[in-house]
Amino acid sequence: MSNQNIDQIKKEALSEIQRADTAEQVKSLSVKYLGRKGLVTLFLRNISALPEEERPEAGKKANQVKLTLEEACQSAIERILSADGDKKEIAIDISLPGRPAPRGSLHPITRITRRICDVFSRMGFNVAEGPEVETDYYNFEALNIPKNHPARDMQDTFYVSENIVLRTHTSPMQVRFMEKHRPPVRIIAPGKVYRCDSDITHTPMFHQVEGLLVDEHVSFGDLKGILTAFVHEVFDEQTSLRFRPSFFPFTEPSAEVDILCVICRGKGCKVCSGTGWLEVLGCGMVHPAVFENVGYDTGRYSGFAFGMGVERIAMLKYGINDIRLYYEGDMRFLKQF
Ligand code: DAH
Repeated sequence: MSNQNIDQIKKEALSEIQRADTAEQVKSLSVKYLGRKGLVTLFLRNISALPEEERPEAGKKANQVKLTLEEACQSAIERILSADGDKKEIAIDISLPGRPAPRGSLHPITRITRRICDVFSRMGFNVAEGPEVETDYYNFEALNIPKNHPARDMQDTFYVSENIVLRTHTSPMQVRFMEKHRPPVRIIAPGKVYRCDSDITHTPMFHQVEGLLVDEHVSFGDLKGILTAFVHEVFDEQTSLRFRPSFFPFTEPSAEVDILCVICRGKGCKVCSGTGWLEVLGCGMVHPAVFENVGYDTGRYSGFAFGMGVERIAMLKYGINDIRLYYEGDMRFLKQF
């Protein structure tokens, strides 16, 4: 036994430990070198047989080797365990279906607005948009609703200042567009509108789509034709319409359009309050006073206009009875669209 001997043992032990690729192999190498009858242990035990002057050096060295091998065993075990872990991650079952990434979807109001615009674009209407903060002039005055006119009570207006309002309807877009364009005019104007009102069928902000068509020889028959085609497209061919005489300051004559109840088909139910009909929009022939405000020749041109609430159409189409659901941001509700 000599120092050379212990160097040899160390060299072989390290190379064997490094090559081990199971925990069992490491364990048996640990026994082989460090166990009770292990080579390093025996070397230590036999130090007393060495010549006196070699003993301290040999003892020190052998203890160092013992420590080195213990550490080598420990790191070999760690190496093997972490490699096993990696193997587990690599073992993918490629026959499993992929995990779908969550996808967003359009808000139901966006969907219906786009649907409405799509139907009208195919009938030759262009989309026009304008400001939500509006002057009293465009929101009321130019639409034949003078100050102190009782028609202003029909709409609970948010006033920003005496002459600035949050638009209460999309009708101001009629005036804004006609001021800048000569007939023929064929537009729809979708957008947000605001009224100081809040309950199961009203939110302070909601959406409307305005329609305006102006040309020579436009009649109420054209209005009926366009709106009938629209309702048949958005609902179905069986959804009949009725025009009820009504009043709006900016149209004459004016009408409100009802559609056959989409739930009971006219028999009468809770949704249509037993009438068999549902109100969906207001419309009429553009009032000559409005044409005069934009400088159109009332002898030559005639036109019709209409305005509908998008939330209302969406509620009827999807069978939703509380308008507030649209704006609570509840994913369980929104995910259904
Ligand atoms: N602006 C009306 C409202 O919000 C709706 C309306 C009625 C629009 C008749 C029109 C129309 O263009 O002709 O109550």
